[in-house]
Amino acid sequence: MNRTHNNGELRIEHVGEHVELIGWVSKKRNLGSLVFIDLRDRYGLTQIVCGEEFEEQVREIKNEYIIQVSGNVVERSSKNPKMPTGDIEIETKKIEVINKAELTPMIVADETDALEETRMQYRYLDLRRPVMQKNIMTRAKITRSIREYLDNHDFIDIETPYLNKSTPEGARDFLVPSRVHNGSFYALPQSPQLFKQLLMVSGFERYYQIARCFRDEDLRADRQPEFTQVDVEMSFMSTDQIIRVGEEMVAKVMKDVKDIDLKLPLPRMTWHEAMEKYGIDKPDTRFGLELVNLNEVVSDVDFAVFKNALDHNGYVKGINIKGQADQFSRKKIDQLTDIVKTYKAKGLAWLKVNDNGVQGPIAKFFNEEQMQRLLKAMDAKVHDLLVFVSDTHYEVVCDSLAALRNYLGKELKLYDPHTFDFLWVTDFPMFEYDEETQRYYAKHHPFTRPKDSDIDKIENDPAHCLADAYDIVLNGFELGGGSQRIYEQDLQERAFKALGFTQERIESQFGWFVDAFKYGTPPHGGFALGLDRLAMLLCECDSLRDVIAFPKNTTSTCPMSKAPSPVDQLQLDDLGIEVKEDE
Ligand code: AMO
Ligand code: AMP
Repeated sequence: MNRTHNNGELRIEHVGEHVELIGWVSKKRNLGSLVFIDLRDRYGLTQIVCGEEFEEQVREIKNEYIIQVSGNVVERSSKNPKMPTGDIEIETKKIEVINKAELTPMIVADETDALEETRMQYRYLDLRRPVMQKNIMTRAKITRSIREYLDNHDFIDIETPYLNKSTPEGARDFLVPSRVHNGSFYALPQSPQLFKQLLMVSGFERYYQIARCFRDEDLRADRQPEFTQVDVEMSFMSTDQIIRVGEEMVAKVMKDVKDIDLKLPLPRMTWHEAMEKYGIDKPDTRFGLELVNLNEVVSDVDFAVFKNALDHNGYVKGINIKGQADQFSRKKIDQLTDIVKTYKAKGLAWLKVNDNGVQGPIAKFFNEEQMQRLLKAMDAKVHDLLVFVSDTHYEVVCDSLAALRNYLGKELKLYDPHTFDFLWVTDFPMFEYDEETQRYYAKHHPFTRPKDSDIDKIENDPAHCLADAYDIVLNGFELGGGSQRIYEQDLQERAFKALGFTQERIESQFGWFVDAFKYGTPPHGGFALGLDRLAMLLCECDSLRDVIAFPKNTTSTCPMSKAPSPVDQLQLDDLGIEVKEDE
């Protein structure tokens, strides 16, 4: 099976050459006595022209047949500037069918009307589409670029086990039953976190792994049950040095894959600033519409909703939707209200700054001085639309306005969707209080180190204890995160205690890990980058499924193989497992 060129290669300078090509029939068109075939392989498309003498042979050939063609490269009379090979075509001398294909259940082309479920069921055909091939190849390019960076900076690629001890906290584990030890289970790793820290105890100093991780979570467009992390850990490095490694690595990817020069250092923002200005710890910084804290400004305004929130240690925040007063009818404002309500806000108050004054349902509660104060605080000018949420819960105000802000940014086209806006968010809280269970949880994981200045807050003021932790954010997505780790045994015990772990529970769950810290543990820290998310954003896709060759659908199943599926009774017996009948 000889081929002299691939299907994306031939140009005007090849005219006159005799070539042999092979590929899939992408399209066949009859034009009088001539038949045109678009021949496709992973490199591109080439147009083949078959004369009358091939009429009978070509009649048999259908889409997705694999054919071999030999012929001469000729200049096209009507060129196609959209195709890289659009200046030429192949005048067929010989044509041969290598393999036939049945009618495919979906159109194999960039534009396809196939449902997502069909695409997933016939994923091998979906992956034949040039756009999908491009995504998967871009992903490989990203991985290669990352490996190059880490290999060149002395990092050692080390594999860690998939079959582990279950350590609750974090997401739900995927469990694997043991045949040898009936009734016992391995857990698939949610991340290689504990092992990479042990590798620091072992003295490797610089570790990385392109690691598959497993989390039994409810799926969203940016979440898969198995996903890939670029997992990195380092010893004897300051937070600034670790962050530098992370951003140099990302900058190399941006150069290699998108030919974009990222300006380093990347901007940084504290978690507190992100929450105040954007209401979210992964702000999309491609546009403004910042949140304004109005607690002080409206403290003496006689509007029951605001007053009630402030009387109960609550919050009032607003957004100035610049220049949009005339564009938003009551109906459109109701739509905005529906958005904030899905995030538990009780309503959306609003004001329009018009030529002849400020108008809106809450205007009557402000006297002249209070209104001027508000307009100044929100930098409001004529034609601006001001919206407000107040609530006794900080999260409700933040979540609802952050969602509204993201909606408006997209809807009002406030940014160029082809730009990439990176930043680090730093100084996360160590702990998160859960009202329901009335205890603190680790915001990152229990091995995250508090900031040196905040160590004593572990006991004295856990709510305000900050962690030496950082996330890297791209266009409003959490791309990755990491931290310095606790390396002293006594500090680790204090952190566990603050999380309400008993000595017994520490022993049974983390004993094997914590024990290692007795034997000389270096100061260490690191991060993990979501490779799927990075690929999704660089390919400008909306779903992780478009950059994973064989992903799961939104119900965590594979429509192609039908996994997960019931298994033989014999297999269950081996494992000592009895399946409950559905009630
Ligand atoms: P974390 O849990 O923040 O940190 O995960 C790091 C990054 O992994 C990606 N990610 C996911 N991608 C797709 N589907 C998922 N279900 C999913 N969950 C997470 C995100 C996220 O930012 N061990 C720590 C890192 C460390 O401290 O070094 C960890 O796993 O892009
Ligand atoms: P009401 O007094 O309930 O008629 O509300 C007056 C205005 O305040 C309406 O525009 C409501 O949408 C809005 N509103 C109600 N609750 C809130 C809230 N928690 N935050 C902001 N605005 C609210």
